[in-house]
Amino acid sequence: MHGYQSSTSLADKQVMKHLILVTAVVMLGASALADEFIDYGKQIAEANCQQCHAILTDDESRHPEAPRLRELSERYPIDTLEEAFAEGIYAGHPDMPQFEASPEQIGALLAYINSIQARN
Ligand code: HEC
Repeated sequence: MHGYQSSTSLADKQVMKHLILVTAVVMLGASALADEFIDYGKQIAEANCQQCHAILTDDESRHPEAPRLRELSERYPIDTLEEAFAEGIYAGHPDMPQFEASPEQIGALLAYINSIQARN
């Protein structure tokens, strides 16, 4: 019982922290918290997308065929990506790994991608 408690408490705290953050962003629309949420999305992009895609406003994709994330909205509304990510998209493309994320991580990633769109 002690082992169970100590091994899960850190993960639980992380999950709770982000759940609280998401709820706060939705309920309050507080811009400081929204910034933190977007920043979380940026970290996800750095860890999972940057090795192929340009993920900033002025960088270049390392994989020649990977579109710059800031230009995705030229192809389709960013919102339509949500479902695709939730289903673990693009498994069909050999170079793009399956990306499995929680709804909250997907939300943060999309918030970040939205924030860097060249159209804005
Ligand atoms: C190992 C390289 C690699 C990684 C990592 C990667 N991608 Fe891709 N991605 C690609 C390539 C290559 C394409 C272009 C595929 C094509 O045109 O068929 C692509 C295409 C896409 C597309 C466009 C699909 C379309 O139909 O236009 C989106 C959106 C996308 N990636 C998002 C992401 C996101 C978000 C991440 C991080 C969670 C990510 N990718 C990680 C290689 C990668």
